Amino acid sequence: MAEGETKLTGQDLAKGIPLESLPDGQMLVGHAYGKAVLLVRTAGDVFAVSPHCTHYNGPLAEGLIVGETIRCPWHHASFDLRTGEAVRAPALNSIACWEVTAQGGWIKVGKKREQPEPRIPIESPAKPERIVIVGGGAAGFAAAEMLRRVGYQNSLVMLSSDAALPYDRPNLSKDYLAGTIPFDYVPLRNESFYKENGIELQLGKNVAGLDLSAHEVLLSNGETVSYDRLLLATGAEPVRLTIPGAEQPHVHALRSLADSNAIIAAVKTSKQAVVVGASFIGLEVAASLRERKLKVHVVAPDKRPMERILGPDMADFIRALHEEHGVIFHLETKPKAIDKVVHLENGESIEADFVVVGIGVRPRLELAENAGLRVDRGVAVDEYLETSAPRIFAAGDIARWPDLHSGENIRVEHWVVAERQGQAAALNMLGERAPFDQVPFFWSQHYDVPINYVGHAETWDEIQIDGDIKKKDCTLRFKHNGRVRAVASIFRDLESLQAEAAMEHKVAA
Ligand SMILES: Cc1cc2nc3c(=O)[nH]c(=O)nc-3n(C[C@H](O)[C@H](O)[C@H](O)COP(=O)(O)OP(=O)(O)OC[C@H]3O[C@@H](n4cnc5c(N)ncnc54)[C@H](O)[C@@H]3O)c2cc1C
Ligand code: FES
Repeated sequence: MAEGETKLTGQDLAKGIPLESLPDGQMLVGHAYGKAVLLVRTAGDVFAVSPHCTHYNGPLAEGLIVGETIRCPWHHASFDLRTGEAVRAPALNSIACWEVTAQGGWIKVGKKREQPEPRIPIESPAKPERIVIVGGGAAGFAAAEMLRRVGYQNSLVMLSSDAALPYDRPNLSKDYLAGTIPFDYVPLRNESFYKENGIELQLGKNVAGLDLSAHEVLLSNGETVSYDRLLLATGAEPVRLTIPGAEQPHVHALRSLADSNAIIAAVKTSKQAVVVGASFIGLEVAASLRERKLKVHVVAPDKRPMERILGPDMADFIRALHEEHGVIFHLETKPKAIDKVVHLENGESIEADFVVVGIGVRPRLELAENAGLRVDRGVAVDEYLETSAPRIFAAGDIARWPDLHSGENIRVEHWVVAERQGQAAALNMLGERAPFDQVPFFWSQHYDVPINYVGHAETWDEIQIDGDIKKKDCTLRFKHNGRVRAVASIFRDLESLQAEAAMEHKVAA
């Protein structure tokens, strides 16, 4: 629902409230001049902002105040309370702000502020003549948006092998695939954004190589594009099945908008689908296909779905949740061939009008490898996201960076991390030297159940469970040698935000 369309609740804040009724660190939702307004008192000041997150409309009043920012409970976007600027992805648009006056122990919301200039434009010591971004996904788009936001005015070229305008990839397995949102919600920005911001977006352009000495990228069509700074944000590609029958047109992968559209087209003439892989994407697809009333079978070698990431209790819950919604699991087995049916190694055969394969992804490292950049199960970058080649940066699914929280070099496949790395790389390409120090975060959605995860725990020796997983009200802390490495939660958004802030606090300390 767009701002202003919500039913107004609470007090008329234009008339004012006693200051003492809003203690420090507290928030209050009310309205002013026909719009919903959130009052926030923090660090001795009172701010009036829109209560709706500009990502998916999350309720900021249920979020966390951190200094002069407010973080969204749903996917941890953060907004500057003074200016409204979206200072952390996944939100990219600012929220509205109003004047606040304090007099005689009363606070009143005044007129809406002009959208302030976000950030002080960076005085770049380098002023690169041209920045080239390879990749039109989360990291590439967020980098381009940030470059223009902070006032970079020289040439900005974005090359994407995808034919579609940059889009909201997480939605491809969730609401868009389930048919519960229209296509309009999928592009991150419409075409005019790129024109108005002077972003030379070249779609359907595949970069085939890099010439480091000439400072050029080489396109498959023979063209070259020179750069002063280069961002590699080529993401990942789905791992394919290599069994007989896997190349048939009714066997789908899901990475791109075109993939999602192909599955939606297949749904129209289908009654039953097989999903191979009980990963996040596989199970989100299963949930969306159930939403479209298809019979869904999930085949995976795991004993429990997603146990490696979320542990056995959460895994059992996720399995039960999908079974309640009618998904049929075939675990501890794999497909061995696909014709009109999917033949499993355990001897079973399942009819499938189509198959969706979600068995993991591989980072697209060829450009970096062939150019001789340092690669270590990902493109190795420093804390400024710069690769081993000066002036070439990498962000998103391909980047392995020194994570300050875990103390390890890690690579993850999270939308929010990719966007935030794109933003940090943008600033660093302008000479800002902004280390990427944010704690990883991802979310996943299964029917009405969101799972939020902060931190990074490839292994753990203890899972501390607070609350009740079956009642969809829980926090799981993944610990190693007594230290919390990651926190997963269901409907405990504030705790998830607090865990993130606590991890960041430790990093800062
Ligand atoms: C269906 C789906 C659902 C997901 N859901 C979630 C979720 O709920 N939460 C979450 O945290 N994460 C989710 N993810 C993961 C998330 O989308 C990725 O982590 C994120 O998109 C990575 O961003 P990126 O910019 O690194 O790569 P991408 O977004 O994949 O973008 C890579 C871009 O590079 C382009 N490209 C690649 N090679 C070349 C080349 N040689 N030349 C030119 N262009 C090239 C591609 O066309 C693409 O535009 C999901 C992923 C998928 C596929
Ligand atoms: S709705 Fe606020 S971050 Fe997604």
